[in-house]
Amino acid sequence: MKHVLVTGGIGYIGSHTVVSLVEQGFHPVVVDDLRNSSPTILTAVGKLSNDLFTHISVDICDYKALKRVLSPFSLDAVIHFAAYKSVRESFDIPLHYYQNNLTGLMNVLELCQTFKIRKFVFSSSCTVYGSPNERQVFENTPKQLPESPYGFTKWMGEQILADFHRNPTPFQTICLRYFNPIGAHPSGLIGELSVGIPNNLVPYITQTAAGIRKHLTIFGNNYPTPDGTCIRDFIHVCDVADAHVSALKHVGTKPLEAFNIGTGKGTSVLDLVQTFMAVSGLDVPYRYGERRSGDVAEIFANVEKSKHELGWEAQRTLEQALRDAWNWEQRLQQHD
Ligand SMILES: NC(=O)c1ccc[n+]([C@@H]2O[C@H](COP(=O)([O-])OP(=O)(O)OC[C@H]3O[C@@H](n4cnc5c(N)ncnc54)[C@H](O)[C@@H]3O)[C@@H](O)[C@H]2O)c1
Repeated sequence: MKHVLVTGGIGYIGSHTVVSLVEQGFHPVVVDDLRNSSPTILTAVGKLSNDLFTHISVDICDYKALKRVLSPFSLDAVIHFAAYKSVRESFDIPLHYYQNNLTGLMNVLELCQTFKIRKFVFSSSCTVYGSPNERQVFENTPKQLPESPYGFTKWMGEQILADFHRNPTPFQTICLRYFNPIGAHPSGLIGELSVGIPNNLVPYITQTAAGIRKHLTIFGNNYPTPDGTCIRDFIHVCDVADAHVSALKHVGTKPLEAFNIGTGKGTSVLDLVQTFMAVSGLDVPYRYGERRSGDVAEIFANVEKSKHELGWEAQRTLEQALRDAWNWEQRLQQHD
């Protein structure tokens, strides 16, 4: 297996994955129209991978164009990242989310049928567990209805894949359910881009440390957790990227499987902020706000299945992730 189609491969997780794939001898064929990335990230991915990948700018929702641009390639597998990802934004423009995330997925599946590509890795999310009764979730923890239109697109994405597998098909799929990817490449050349107010916690922390935001708001300090703030499973984005290489090597042993991609350890939001302050030596002014509807008090991954079956586990520490995130933020400021 060599040529891998990577949709959304210039985005946050995709760009780190393309670098890992090249390091492992794959040739990624990246389809990304950069709607949520930038030419600077594209250039940086080239630098980190000696330009050993192909990039094509096309909208995956345009099936005819997608088929046309990919027909010269002989593709062995697909990693499908391209989607919109903001929980908050998905409440404002739900149709855009359903349109891009579901039409995009169905087009890529159609393409797999047409080009006889048999291996597929899908970017799913721990959001498919909804508000689980257990704090630690296993892959067989019953899925629950998500809280946001974005969450529904991941939940439905998994359902579409399950239905696709109902007919006898030689197709094999792995759904990777990411927990909370954070951090950046240690080079500081690629990381998470935020247009306007960041949707995710770590870019908000680093922007506050950089003085771009006055203070950070922690949503809720009266949850039933030791310090009252929510507990999440934060994982270094390079570990998430490596999980895709393991998934590609593993895909094919069973028709359809899901794996949790987390560290297996819960960290509270307050702990995260304090760890950031400790590793950066900077102050991050924060205050507490109201709880956000739909936020569960605590969720973290059980990662035994990923460890034993994928042969993958997170290698990097929370401190490393936060140091890399801060390094990335400083580089961004230098270039602004
Ligand atoms: N980042 C997270 O915290 C997180 C958590 C769980 C799941 N996920 C999922 O992982 C995947 C990647 O997330 P990310 O954080 O890297 O997001 P991202 O927005 O940084 O990357 C997505 C990339 O896809 C591209 N794209 C989107 N729609 C496209 C289209 N129609 N045609 C061509 N390109 C298109 C964007 O330009 C972007 O570069 C998404 O499916 C997301 O839902 C992300």
